[in-house]
Amino acid sequence: MLSRCIIPCRHPPVLARRNYASSALHFYANKQLELYAAKETKRLTLRQLVFFGRSMNEERLITSANYVRTELPVRIAHRLRDMQALPYIVVTSEGMAKVYELYWSAFDRFRRFPQVTTLAENEAFCKFLRALLDEHSTAIPKLTLGLSLSSPYLTPDRLDSFMRRMLVSRISRRVLAEHHIALSRDYRARQEGGESRADHVGIIYTNLRIRDSIERCASYLRKRAFDVDGDMPSHSNGSAAWSKVIVDGHTDTKFPYIREHMDYIIFELLKNALRATRTKHINASELPPIRATIVSGEDHVAIRISDQGGGLLNPHIQAPSDLFSFSHIRNAARLDDSLLVALRTVSSSPKGMKGTVDEQLDASEKAPDQPAPHPRIGIGLPMSNIYTKYFGGSLELVSMDGHGTDVYLRLPRLGTNLEGIEV
Ligand code: COI
Repeated sequence: MLSRCIIPCRHPPVLARRNYASSALHFYANKQLELYAAKETKRLTLRQLVFFGRSMNEERLITSANYVRTELPVRIAHRLRDMQALPYIVVTSEGMAKVYELYWSAFDRFRRFPQVTTLAENEAFCKFLRALLDEHSTAIPKLTLGLSLSSPYLTPDRLDSFMRRMLVSRISRRVLAEHHIALSRDYRARQEGGESRADHVGIIYTNLRIRDSIERCASYLRKRAFDVDGDMPSHSNGSAAWSKVIVDGHTDTKFPYIREHMDYIIFELLKNALRATRTKHINASELPPIRATIVSGEDHVAIRISDQGGGLLNPHIQAPSDLFSFSHIRNAARLDDSLLVALRTVSSSPKGMKGTVDEQLDASEKAPDQPAPHPRIGIGLPMSNIYTKYFGGSLELVSMDGHGTDVYLRLPRLGTNLEGIEV
């Protein structure tokens, strides 16, 4: 374990030397890491991902594989360096130590993965990527647990900027890996005579209709009132009062985007709006609606979600943007026992975060009765903010205290912004 091996030692014990790759002696043996961490990342735009993937052939697919194979260890190396710069007590905390090990192991395996030169080797590479994606499914709750426990040892700015770099980088790595897997799957399907999936390039929907995402999430949440209510006592016996979700503005707006990201953000914003409205109007037989207004601008699409749930006045925070923070100084709820317990549960569950929101929505359409509530781990809003920023968007919360909240989501529509990862 990291805590045992972290002590610098000129003559590491024989046992540790034999288990070198799986031990954490690498914490001080950074030659390879430094080589990779010194490299610049090759950031991409959404438009580049679409254009490159649009006319796929064997050569391009292999180029894509080798880009992912060489780029991901660079991105992971930067984050390992970032973790090494944290105070000892933070990097060895419950959750963080495990994330460090996961990243080190992924880094080591990536850099040893041989160059991909054939379609068969690409198949093996895709399997390797899929296994790593699954292995890392609990990284976010582990990281959040580690940082919540370490919050007393870091200033809020340091903690939040570290977490932002970790999360944006993680999103970027998963996008590159998932996109390459999807390109490979679609290419294989076409070679076998199958149909191309319309309106898709890899994981990007080239004509994503925002209204569909809103309606899909609203209908999913309607079926899962227990997820909206959480531990709220009064509705747990099944109040029928529910807010209608009205979609207006430029309702036919379509643009190229990753549906999984859009669904995640919309799902969280609607869930919060529904929950606030149910809480504020606890005894009402009818609830005020939630209005989602879509505006299609030249460079951006904007979505405003307005509720009448009383606003964001909350004893845990001083400003709405504190809800994006992972620091207990900005958001005291970070050290709540119930959140820490839920984070521990999700961190150690084999399926981690139970798949993406997208997978949950698909699964619920196929099997609508899934009674188990999802544990509340307090990362929905900060993660939505990070997803928004990844390709240069913004998320702003405006509280009309006593009345309701307006959330403004803006996303670039041309796809020309580089990924927002930081070194
Ligand atoms: C992550 O999920 O954190 C990753 O880095 C995934 C990647 C290793 C494929």
